[in-house]
Amino acid sequence: MSQPGLAGRTLLETDELSSIVRRFGEAISADHPDGIVLVGILKGSVCLVADLAREISVPCAVDFLALSAYGAGGARIKLSKDLEADVAGRAVVIAVDIVDSGLTVSYVRRLLNERGARSADVCTLLDRRPRRLLPVDLRYVGLEIGDEYVVGYGLDFEERYRNLPMLVVVEPESLRSGASPQSVGRIASVQGLPGH
Ligand code: IMP
Ligand code: MG
Repeated sequence: MSQPGLAGRTLLETDELSSIVRRFGEAISADHPDGIVLVGILKGSVCLVADLAREISVPCAVDFLALSAYGAGGARIKLSKDLEADVAGRAVVIAVDIVDSGLTVSYVRRLLNERGARSADVCTLLDRRPRRLLPVDLRYVGLEIGDEYVVGYGLDFEERYRNLPMLVVVEPESLRSGASPQSVGRIASVQGLPGH
C-alpha cells in the first residue's frame, strides 16, 4: 500500500545528526570515566541509542524502558516496560528524542533516583523549551527548537517516519488529513524512500 509523500523542511541532515551524536559520546565519556548505564526511552530514542552507544568509549550497559499515557486526555504517565538493569549506585544517562513538556523525562529521572542511581543525566537530541510544563535540567542537548513538529531518526507521527535518516519539520494536520502538505524552506527529498 502506498503512503502519501512527505514534504517538509529538513531540520538536521544525517551528517549533522552524526556530529551531534559524536559530540554527545565524547562528552559523556569524558564526564563518566567509570562507565554508565545508557537508558533509552522507547520508542523515540532507538536511533539515538544505537548510534550513541557506538560513540561512547567508556564501559556502557544499554537498557530501555517504555512509558504510556493514561487518564483523561492522556494526562498521566505509567511505566509499560521496565528496565532489566539494577541502577543502584550507577551513573545513568537517559537518552530521549525530544524534551517537550518535560513530563516524560521528569518521571524517568524520579524513578531512577528512587532506585538509587548515583546520577541520572539527560541526553536529548531536541529541546522544545517553550512548551515546558516541568523544569528539567538537561545535561546534553543537540538542538533547541520552537513549536514545530519533527519526524525522523526515531521520532514518529502516528508510528510513521521513524525510519527517516534525517530530522524533518512537518505539518501534522496535513499528514493527518492526507492532504498535500505545505512545505517551507528546504524541502526534504524523502519522497523516494521506501514506505514514504
Ligand atoms: P514530554 O513528556 O512532553 O516531554 O514528551 C516527550 C515525548 O513526546 C517525546 O519523547 C516524543 O516521543 C513525543 N514528542 C514530542 N514532540 C514531538 C515531535 O515533534 N515529534 C515526535 N514526537 C514528539
Ligand atoms: Mg510518538
